[in-house]
Amino acid sequence: MLFYALLFVAVGKAACSSRTEAPPTPQSGVQCHDWGVHQGASVGVYEGESGRIPCPLFSFPSLYNYNQSSGLTLLWYRHTSTHELEQPIDLRAHTFLKHRDSLWIQPATLQDRGLYICMLRNTTSCAKVGVQLQVFVRNGVCDGTLHRNVTVPFQKSYTLRCPDLQHLPSVSYNVTWYHKCRGDLSVFYHRQVEGDEVKIYNLLIGSEGPYTCVVSYQSNGHTLQFTRTINIKPVSPNCGTDHPRVLNPTSGQIYTVTLGEAVNLTCRVFLPCMENEEQQVWWSIDKKTVEELADPRYSSPARSIELEDYGDQTVQKVLHVSEFSAADLQREFRCSARNSRGFNTSVANLQKEVYIPSVELGCGLGVTLAVAVLLFVLYRVYKLEVHLLYRSWFGTDERYSDDKEYDVYISYARNGEEEEFVMTTLRRVLEVELGYSVCIFDRDSLPGGTITDETLRFVGRSRRLVIVVSAFSAVQGTQALLELQAGLAMLRGGHLRVVLIQYKLVNKQCWVKELRRARVALTLIRWQGEKSLPLSSRFWKQLQLELPIRKHTTHTDTERTLDLTDHAKRKHPEESTALILDSLSKPDTQAHQKQRAQSSSAAV
Ligand SMILES: *[C@@H]1O[C@H](CO)[C@@H](O)[C@H](O)[C@H]1NC(C)=O
Ligand SMILES: *[C@@H]1O[C@H](CO)[C@@H](O)[C@H](O)[C@H]1NC(C)=O
Ligand SMILES: *[C@@H]1O[C@H](CO)[C@@H](O)[C@H](O)[C@H]1NC(C)=O
Ligand SMILES: *[C@@H]1O[C@H](CO)[C@@H](O)[C@H](O)[C@H]1NC(C)=O
Ligand SMILES: *[C@@H]1O[C@H](CO)[C@@H](O)[C@H](O)[C@H]1NC(C)=O
Ligand SMILES: *[C@@H]1O[C@H](CO)[C@@H](O)[C@H](O)[C@H]1NC(C)=O
Repeated sequence: MLFYALLFVAVGKAACSSRTEAPPTPQSGVQCHDWGVHQGASVGVYEGESGRIPCPLFSFPSLYNYNQSSGLTLLWYRHTSTHELEQPIDLRAHTFLKHRDSLWIQPATLQDRGLYICMLRNTTSCAKVGVQLQVFVRNGVCDGTLHRNVTVPFQKSYTLRCPDLQHLPSVSYNVTWYHKCRGDLSVFYHRQVEGDEVKIYNLLIGSEGPYTCVVSYQSNGHTLQFTRTINIKPVSPNCGTDHPRVLNPTSGQIYTVTLGEAVNLTCRVFLPCMENEEQQVWWSIDKKTVEELADPRYSSPARSIELEDYGDQTVQKVLHVSEFSAADLQREFRCSARNSRGFNTSVANLQKEVYIPSVELGCGLGVTLAVAVLLFVLYRVYKLEVHLLYRSWFGTDERYSDDKEYDVYISYARNGEEEEFVMTTLRRVLEVELGYSVCIFDRDSLPGGTITDETLRFVGRSRRLVIVVSAFSAVQGTQALLELQAGLAMLRGGHLRVVLIQYKLVNKQCWVKELRRARVALTLIRWQGEKSLPLSSRFWKQLQLELPIRKHTTHTDTERTLDLTDHAKRKHPEESTALILDSLSKPDTQAHQKQRAQSSSAAV
């Protein structure tokens, strides 16, 4: 009794399922060939619209042919996350419709996305393949998320057909076309809507871009619709006639490689426009492709597009060598490109790079730089000291090379604060502390003789003229002005150096015209009051720099200086004679040489 009850249930179930589709039948004994999930065939559909999933098995017509006479059955299944096994699709539900080689979903909801499996079988054989369905929420009427690209050469004709329309499971439908979201397609004479199609007679700039067809139809008493977009990409009119060209490596190009390091060899290829043709670009090592070699040290990732222009492409193909060996240097690295029109190839010239120890070099440079910066800072701080030190080491004592009597002639305005400074401070420090021979006109000139001549003579016999600038320096007819003019004249002749000292701030406007002009070329040393009193102050260091070198500051007597000048003269008697003779032949320097001769004789 129980047995009959079970049989009844089983028969009932069988009757039930036969109304849908025969379930996958492991009991039929036929092993079903599984092609897996067909990646290229995945289908996208907008939510709320109809979608069509064609069974990809029929894209191999030589293998599978499905028609009434073939005796094959097409079955549809779905793989959902809730069920371990594939579930037959319930065709009783209105949303699913099996129509010829496709499954229509009318309309699609977000829940419908997932893996669909079509199975083709007869009593002796079986095959199945999976298709992924994606459902997108449409973002406005002009959403072009789902589209296909079509390349059309300029000035060629093309007919746009709405995809899936010829497979529509209904005979009554309406089609509306849009171009770039606008409905007025026929305003251009070079294109027209004819029936369900758009005919472009002559593709011109402006006719490219997205063409959208919206199809509405009736099915099972419902009004349904779907939208498809075809994106027209114009290409050059002579598309399909050219061969590829390898741009890099060029014949003169050298790829530098470092042994033991990773190396990237980049090949650049111009791929001309080709309609529906896969053009090849590849690297070969000693005439073997990377795949043939199967050496893990070599790899060549997919090419990247550098430039794209109306179908012409410039692409890059990199060969990556993980550890470049010495043996690799002997190999031939060749980049090639091919399409149906031709072949082009080029060999990379490799050159070993000389090893540069970048870290060590970097450290060395860093240290050098740090030392340089340190020295620079020290120099900025101790500039004067450095100069003085340098002079004391490498400077020459002018006493040995000239025949002057005094080191310094001090010019100052009488009856001013400056006079006091000269007498009590400047003269004392220069003579006593620093050991210079100083000439002060009022003290050193002998009574009698004209002041002008005497002044010129004394200034001429000094190595430096130190002018203590004051508001009274410029007063006409004063001794100070006379000294100044004499000094500046000799300065221009190059026979004397002039140093300015500013004891008190003097308005430049008060300076005598000649001094104002000469100021640019002269050193001005400022007295800083109390601060300048010690011998180690900036004032005295600056002054010493301007004055002749004194290595021994103990000799203060003028006799000593005189001795030295005598000595110098005795040492170079021929030179002095030569200079005098020379001066005779050069009239413009005659005056100076005469004076020089005079002072020499005076010194004697
Ligand atoms: C049906 O398929 C067979 C091969 O299986 C083929 O010879 C025949 O032409 C097909 N018929 C139609 C109408 O496509
Ligand atoms: C079943 O289909 C296969 C492949 O299409 C075919 O070779 C075979 O003859 C078919 N068997 C029957 C019994 O129709
Ligand atoms: C079509 O071409 C555009 C570039 O023009 C690209 O972004 C898009 O991914 C292409 N679409 C498809 C489906 O290949
Ligand atoms: C097509 O359009 C016409 C007029 O706009 C309308 O009467 C008809 O019902 C439409 N048909 C479908 C299937 O939507
Ligand atoms: C080589 O190229 C890859 C990316 O393609 C990059 O990650 C790597 O750093 C490059 N190596 C060298 C040595 O340039
Ligand atoms: C590659 O193309 C260039 C430019 O068209 C041509 O000069 C060269 O001969 C070609 N090389 C080969 C091997 O075809």
